[in-house]
Amino acid sequence: MKTTVTSVATAVLLGASAVLGSSVTPITVKGNAFFQGTNRFYIRGVDYQPGGSSKLADPIADAEGCKRDIQKFKDLGLNTVRVYSVDNSQDHDECMNALAEAGIYLVLDVNTPKYAINRAEPKTSYNDVYLQYVFATVEMFAKYDNTLAFFSGNEVINDGPSSKSAPYVKAVTRDIRTYLRARKLRHVPVGYSAADVDTNRLEMAEYMNCGPDDERSDFFAFNDYSWCDPSSFTTSGWDQKVKNFTGYGIPLFLSEYGCNTNERKFEEVSALYSTEMTSVYSGGLVYEYSEESSNYGLVKISGNNVKELPDYDALKTAYSKTANPKGDGNYNSTGGANPCPAKNSPSWDVEGDSLPAMPAPAKKYLTQGAGKGKGFSGSGSMEAGTQSTGTAAPGSGSVSEDSSSSSSSSGASSSAAAVAVKPIGLSTASMVMGLVTALSTLFGASLILL
Ligand SMILES: *[C@@H]1O[C@H](CO)[C@@H](O)[C@H](O)[C@H]1NC(C)=O
Ligand SMILES: *[C@@H]1O[C@H](CO)[C@@H](O)[C@H](O)[C@H]1NC(C)=O
Repeated sequence: MKTTVTSVATAVLLGASAVLGSSVTPITVKGNAFFQGTNRFYIRGVDYQPGGSSKLADPIADAEGCKRDIQKFKDLGLNTVRVYSVDNSQDHDECMNALAEAGIYLVLDVNTPKYAINRAEPKTSYNDVYLQYVFATVEMFAKYDNTLAFFSGNEVINDGPSSKSAPYVKAVTRDIRTYLRARKLRHVPVGYSAADVDTNRLEMAEYMNCGPDDERSDFFAFNDYSWCDPSSFTTSGWDQKVKNFTGYGIPLFLSEYGCNTNERKFEEVSALYSTEMTSVYSGGLVYEYSEESSNYGLVKISGNNVKELPDYDALKTAYSKTANPKGDGNYNSTGGANPCPAKNSPSWDVEGDSLPAMPAPAKKYLTQGAGKGKGFSGSGSMEAGTQSTGTAAPGSGSVSEDSSSSSSSSGASSSAAAVAVKPIGLSTASMVMGLVTALSTLFGASLILL
């Protein structure tokens, strides 16, 4: 009997270790900056989607590939990776825990090529089938303490006329935040990743941070390829991007950077993490880890072999000689909303701040949960489901009954899944063992197996 109890306890622990991972502090937002506990947090990351969108594969579902690449992430000195698409029918525990053990966070796009807002048909593509996919992904990843942020959309607006789809992107942002609160999940920061479009970048940023609190983003990010080595803070125009965004009330970072017109030395790294920028910016993500057809890779992956390319060493060197600023980097602790941008077509074709209401059949997910994700093999959402009817009342995304739990940093949910992933470091493992043994002794081993 004694051996049975011990082996059950061991089995529980072994099983649990695949889910528990090491302790990482969830990232929170204060003013216009990210924080890891009481320390300012700067994103030092890369974009990570081997295969790109043409040979779509989920790198977080591939535990072996993920662990192989984590060695490189650590060697590069990263603390964050961004993944553009995940298959929400797959399990992600092993890779997410391996990333957590390496101190690496995930910034996750909730869309896939088949489940996304279509900029040409935003009204049709904003529907309940789409939101089910998004919510299933959010539910799955909010339980990991190293999920740093969700992108509600990526480059949906890529010129003036497509700004017409901005209210839909903003509605998705609102809906994800509503879902997190309604389901009592950790309040993972939610924001949008904008294309490198000069003509409406500022309007887009202002738009995502205007209006009622339930409709605003937690942060904003944009892609930027304007620093092409050799360059400088002023030559690249980054000085203007600091000036123009000074006073912006939520965290800001570069979701893609690393112009490859000339040889890349990543000299922009020393600018990005200097106090010339850190009062407004919180770091960024280099495009991109693996070599694809666009030639931005740091490494070339063939089968299970990963070859470092010249850009790999260049980035590693740039990071290693660039420390974060001391103290808080002069962030703005006030934060808050700004006025909505005025309509200015053709570059900004949005009137006011009213948003489409959540499509009616999607509302049940707020109380019942989204259920199982359809994954990459799902049939897609762009022409499916039921559309939104009418305009949202301001505050419709609020979830009043749990305002206290939504803002807690642990965001522990009452569901078994969330309890199971509460961080337990090695030091507490023996305590768990003791507890399991005690429970086994008290109630018999069979209970522990449940
Ligand atoms: C900064 O703002 C000015 C004035 O609105 C605008 O002309 C300029 O293009 C902006 N620069 C950048 C880099 O966004
Ligand atoms: C700090 O943020 C607030 C709110 O967004 C803004 O009004 C203020 O101008 C900012 N201060 C600085 C120094 O940027």
